[in-house]
Amino acid sequence: MQFKNTLEFARELDAEDKLSSYRDQFIFPQHEGENVIYFTGNSLGLQPKSAKKYVDEIMTDWANLAVEGHFYAEKPWWDYHERFSAKLAKVVGAKPAEVTVMNTLTVNLHLLMVSFYRPKGKRYKIICEEKAFPSDQYMISSQVRFHGYDPEDAIVEIKRREGENNFRTEDIFAKIKEVGEECALVLIGGVNYYTGQVLEMETITKAGHDIGAFVGWDLAHAAGNIELNLSEWNVDFAAWCSYKYMNSGPGNASGCFINEKYHNQKDIPRFEGWWGHSKERRFLMEPEFQPEDGADAWQISNAPVLALAPYLASLEMFEEVGMPALIEKRNRIVAYLEFVLHEIDKEVDSSFEIITPAKQEERGTQLSVFLHGEGRELFNYLMKNGVITDWREPNVIRLAPAPFYCSFEDMFQFGQILKKGILEKSK
Ligand SMILES: Cc1ncc(COP(=O)(O)O)c(C=O)c1O
Repeated sequence: MQFKNTLEFARELDAEDKLSSYRDQFIFPQHEGENVIYFTGNSLGLQPKSAKKYVDEIMTDWANLAVEGHFYAEKPWWDYHERFSAKLAKVVGAKPAEVTVMNTLTVNLHLLMVSFYRPKGKRYKIICEEKAFPSDQYMISSQVRFHGYDPEDAIVEIKRREGENNFRTEDIFAKIKEVGEECALVLIGGVNYYTGQVLEMETITKAGHDIGAFVGWDLAHAAGNIELNLSEWNVDFAAWCSYKYMNSGPGNASGCFINEKYHNQKDIPRFEGWWGHSKERRFLMEPEFQPEDGADAWQISNAPVLALAPYLASLEMFEEVGMPALIEKRNRIVAYLEFVLHEIDKEVDSSFEIITPAKQEERGTQLSVFLHGEGRELFNYLMKNGVITDWREPNVIRLAPAPFYCSFEDMFQFGQILKKGILEKSK
């Protein structure tokens, strides 16, 4: 399609957008009486209007039923988390029994490493990507030290080539092959938080298995953003947070995937608690742990239902719309944003380098843009003028037009504000 950088054209795209009505189902912060242009759904998604109702329902049940709410609430609390599995399984391409929701992301990755990082003899190394999200770096390093190894030796980073922004799949394969029998675990971010690059998870998982390692994925930037087929790709485990593209609210719960081949492994190491105990027998308070079926066996504590409520509200919307429709709109709106950036680039002296891969299959919703000739003042200008984006050192803004609620007109208006910000500065 031949795009145009005009208000009229952007509005035509909005008129054709099958998801346009969903915009009204989210609450936007206001700037001078208008919705902001929100590009940080990759950090914290907007609040679905339905979220409050789900939270209120629990507050009301708590007020009226107190402890009885565990069994007699509108949505009983004792099995509240079970409402997530089937819906989340569709988002990540898994079987419902392979998916559960609990804790928060870094906590879950630690817990999953209890099961899947089992260094022994010469097989003790972890392969991850260089400059992984800091929490992952701290997590991996502390796990390695916990097992008595030196992070310098036990952590092997996949590097980008000199002068390149993105990882090359052949370099990932080469590193996996090179570490070979010494590798206990491959654990990488499926979508890079800084550049938005989507890795080839299926083939990388296979390459990890070929050397006898477990393969897990941090899907913080992938869940609700890109197509995932975790079961089919034979991934061992994965975890993701829900407050980014999944719009569940700040610091909210994490989803986990545990491949079904491990569900009945009696001797799998795991940190256990009563919510992972067989639900039929949970309240018999027996001394011996009997695991629940499936990924739920990894549950530890009773579910924080007040936190899960907005997540469930959001998930109902994912269920209604489905990932294919979100991805279809995502592809179009990201392509339009890219076009607008190129057009504005021609009209100003500074230049924008999109460091996210140009190929659709190698990126999701996020475009990371290196602002050559500009600095933090431009970012500040955008924020002051109702464009919510984020800044990453040294000079990168990340733009993620979440397909649920961003409009094509937003992309056009953003281009105009960006241009004005640059031109005003050079006056
Ligand atoms: C890629 C990635 N991993 C891990 C985390 C940490 O998440 P949490 O604070 O929920 O543990 C984040 C948070 O933004 C992230 O983006």
